[in-house]
Amino acid sequence: MSVDVFEKLNDILKDIEEAGIEDQDQLESFRIKYLGSKNILKSLGGEIRNVPNERKKDFGQLLNKIKKEAKSKFDSTQSRLSVGKTDKKNINIDLTAPPEELMIGARHPVSIVMNKIIDIFSRIGFTVAEDREIEEDWYNFTAMNTPEHHPARDMQDTFYLKGSTTQLLRTHTSSVQSRVMTTQKPPIRIIAPGRVYRNETISARSHCQFHQVEGLYIDKDVSFADMKQTLLYFAQEMYGANTKIRLRPSYFPFTEPSAEMDVWMGTDTEEARKLTKGTGWLEVLGCGMVDPNVLTNCGIDPEEYTGFAFGIGIERTALQNYGIKDIRMLFENDVRFLKQFRSAF
Ligand code: DAH
Repeated sequence: MSVDVFEKLNDILKDIEEAGIEDQDQLESFRIKYLGSKNILKSLGGEIRNVPNERKKDFGQLLNKIKKEAKSKFDSTQSRLSVGKTDKKNINIDLTAPPEELMIGARHPVSIVMNKIIDIFSRIGFTVAEDREIEEDWYNFTAMNTPEHHPARDMQDTFYLKGSTTQLLRTHTSSVQSRVMTTQKPPIRIIAPGRVYRNETISARSHCQFHQVEGLYIDKDVSFADMKQTLLYFAQEMYGANTKIRLRPSYFPFTEPSAEMDVWMGTDTEEARKLTKGTGWLEVLGCGMVDPNVLTNCGIDPEEYTGFAFGIGIERTALQNYGIKDIRMLFENDVRFLKQFRSAF
């Protein structure tokens, strides 16, 4: 009897080793037969009662070997068949089908305009400086030659932080000028893009948040002519190679002299007349020679250094470029609106 059992076991081992399994159905039968809850090894295991004591150990070892063999055969066959499965699936791909659309994100129109300006100035050696939106009064106003009670503070309606008289949401990116000048030594050549806040009634034309790009250049012997040439370069890169500019005298506390730069749009088209209110000139930025007081406030000797600065509003350009009628659309994050913008910048 016991000899029969050993023979049976050896036959089973051989069967397992030689089993040719070609598909999932065969694999499942194999599993049920050798590894399932009622597999044949279990019933044979009970036969150990009839095996003479001195051979019980051999019996147990052989049984274990068979179980292991069955398990490894199952595992290797399963992985072989699943590789085959993907191969087959690949063969069924329709190579003539049009590709699925690539989901490329869209850039926000404000970012597009801002990045274009950064690109233009970085080509002539300006580097980007960024700083905080919650700012100290000193950097936003006082250092920029606008001390307390200065009438120019009324030009910009300010959000102060609750309960604070010194912390505010910056009203312009000019605050980055004082941040940079108090921490860096000239030569300084930076542009500072960022968001600014003013307590203004929200309408189609104005918002309580918007964006500016600030520029600052400080070195020995920097002149008004340097500023004009730099801004002409900017205007021609931004609006086209033949663009003309003009500088109108203006007032800002932190520059002296101060100017506003207009770009010639012409009066030929209805659009240009509308944009320029019939004058042909479009106001683009504020600028000027950095006031010596500002340099002194920030620890730079105005006898040794001079410089110019400028501030460009972003939203108006974004609205013009894309024919957007309402500034509020820029801040609503409506995906149907935002996904329309594509850009290299
Ligand atoms: N900070 C000014 C504003 O928000 C814009 C400005 C004007 C910035 C002249 C400058 C400048 O750097 O020189 O209205």
